[in-house]
Amino acid sequence: MTVGRSLPIAVFDSGVGGLTVLHELLVSLPSEDYVYLGDTSRFPYGTKTRAALRDRVAEIAEFLCARGAKLLIVACNSATAMARDVAAEVAAAAGVETLSVIGPEAEIAAAITTNGRIGLLATPATVAAGAYHRALEGQGRGLDVTEVAATDLAPMIQAGSQFDEGVVETARSYCRPLHEANVDTVILGCTHYPLVAPMLQRILGRDVRLVTAGHAVAAAAQRVLEGRELQALGDGEGDYRFLCTADVESFTELGTRFLQMPLGPVEHVDLGGNP
Ligand code: DGL
Repeated sequence: MTVGRSLPIAVFDSGVGGLTVLHELLVSLPSEDYVYLGDTSRFPYGTKTRAALRDRVAEIAEFLCARGAKLLIVACNSATAMARDVAAEVAAAAGVETLSVIGPEAEIAAAITTNGRIGLLATPATVAAGAYHRALEGQGRGLDVTEVAATDLAPMIQAGSQFDEGVVETARSYCRPLHEANVDTVILGCTHYPLVAPMLQRILGRDVRLVTAGHAVAAAAQRVLEGRELQALGDGEGDYRFLCTADVESFTELGTRFLQMPLGPVEHVDLGGNP
């Protein structure tokens, strides 16, 4: 398929977390069309093996490019950490450029920390891949980084849990090592976490700055589209549509709650592959 400006920007995540990135795109590039895939049948990505994640990311990249996309955005830190290169390779074969998270947050965190102590909250897969460690080291500031694998946090958000005391206690336990390390900047290294930023900010305190990916990814998307002359023409609002690989009703309910916009009819897609 020829990659042209009338095609949508494709965004994917394991669930609703990537909506935090999509929201920034919708605000920054309102005239673009978007297609968002939540790979809910494979949620969570954060505890998957590297091999499983790489296979799945290849399937998704292939599917979204074949369906038509002018830019592919990996709006999931776990997929980025384990399989960014796979997504980029598959998309490049279709003439589509790829953007992802991790790099932008590392750059922002390194730029805004005052005491050089940075905390990371992320899934076990992201922490194990060491992607943030490398990205922060690459900033060349000799930063002190405290990483916490927040195993249960994304599943609690994706389950649409009532944010009761149990959730707060779990979040508190993940934030404790960050307090102890006296960090002044915390990277929310999972696209689900900005959805509970108010809770995390209260636990960490006002002086700790939270870093998320959405804004920087949207700015990068604008640069790529302009550089390739692929940006939408006209100044009206573009369309967006949603796909998911498991139950449509729960995705619609949760997605509407978090995006705070109507999702429209959500399409179920079956990508096959191993669970
Ligand atoms: N949104 C995914 C990420 O950014 C995490 C959720 C999951 O474990 O699938 O890592």
